[in-house]
Amino acid sequence: MKKSAYHVAILGATGAVGEVMREILAERQFPISQLTLLASERSAGGTMDFGGKSVRVQDAAQFDWQGVDIALFSAGAAASEIYAPLAAAAGAVVIDNTSRYRYEEDIPLVVPEVNPQRVADYLPRRIIANPNCSTIQLLLVLKPLADSVGIERVVVSTYQAVSGAGSRAIQELGRQTLGIFQQKEVSPSVFPKQIAFNCLPQIDVFQDNGYTKEEMKMLWESRKILEIPDFSLTATCVRVPVFYGHSEAVNVVTKQKISALEFQELLRKAQGVQVWDDQKPGGWPTAVDAAGKDPTWVGRIREDVSHPRGLNFWVVADNIRKGAALNSVQIAELLIRDYL
Ligand code: A2P
Repeated sequence: MKKSAYHVAILGATGAVGEVMREILAERQFPISQLTLLASERSAGGTMDFGGKSVRVQDAAQFDWQGVDIALFSAGAAASEIYAPLAAAAGAVVIDNTSRYRYEEDIPLVVPEVNPQRVADYLPRRIIANPNCSTIQLLLVLKPLADSVGIERVVVSTYQAVSGAGSRAIQELGRQTLGIFQQKEVSPSVFPKQIAFNCLPQIDVFQDNGYTKEEMKMLWESRKILEIPDFSLTATCVRVPVFYGHSEAVNVVTKQKISALEFQELLRKAQGVQVWDDQKPGGWPTAVDAAGKDPTWVGRIREDVSHPRGLNFWVVADNIRKGAALNSVQIAELLIRDYL
């Protein structure tokens, strides 16, 4: 018999994404019979609010997963490696926000507006992977294009907020910014160089081909989610001194010609996407506009003067919400609607 409410656990509940997962579950009135908050031993014993009640944070290492229906994971790949098999073996369905399982063939990688049908593949592993934040917002926009006119090639440059690297990274930007105004020496700790008043052209580790892993993730994940094995995309991922919200400058060459106006029309019908494209000062979305909101915003739409089938545009979304917590909760909503 279908349950009317579910036992939900958040692993990484004290982290940048975990906190927002808790907020979004409450906001969207996810049917919860019990909420379990898990973190490391470091923050076990503390309490957090959920729906007006105080919930104690527990040490994941001591937790028995029996009885959990849905486990939202955002505690890093190493923690997912340990706990996802345990949670799944105990009967939970894990929605994993890390890159640990994304590229395994029998693990679905889901953006609810793009490939909701793949949630059905949560068995046999009982794990669903949540894609990388930069991939999610890009695919919301690319999917309608791929379906209507086909995509030959994508060139994307990202401008990514520090919150994507976790709460210590948020603190590092704050600390360095303040330090510089106080004329103090600042030293990097989370990032390899000073992030305040700077742009860092490296996110995640270097690969043998000279790309960073973040850049390759965008290609690997786009291919898997769009189910186009030879999808052609090249990315340059840059960390910028922004707290919340990733921005992306995108150039797409389509297979058939589509005008900027037709593209706008297509986007107006796309789920989760808002067009904000007034060609006047300030008539475009920024990370600050997108922070704390659900939609993925698209602006600066124009035809590429260098290619007859080229389009340029600018995509912005809150990396912690649509890029992580919201996407995970939307997957959980599909799971309980159709499968649990
Ligand atoms: P803790 O607060 O105990 O360190 P962020 O992405 O903002 O850095 O947050 C990471 C989240 O993942 C935090 O909630 C952190 O808990 C949790 N975490 C990190 N490593 C582990 C681990 N090995 N086991 C359980 N939780 C972990």
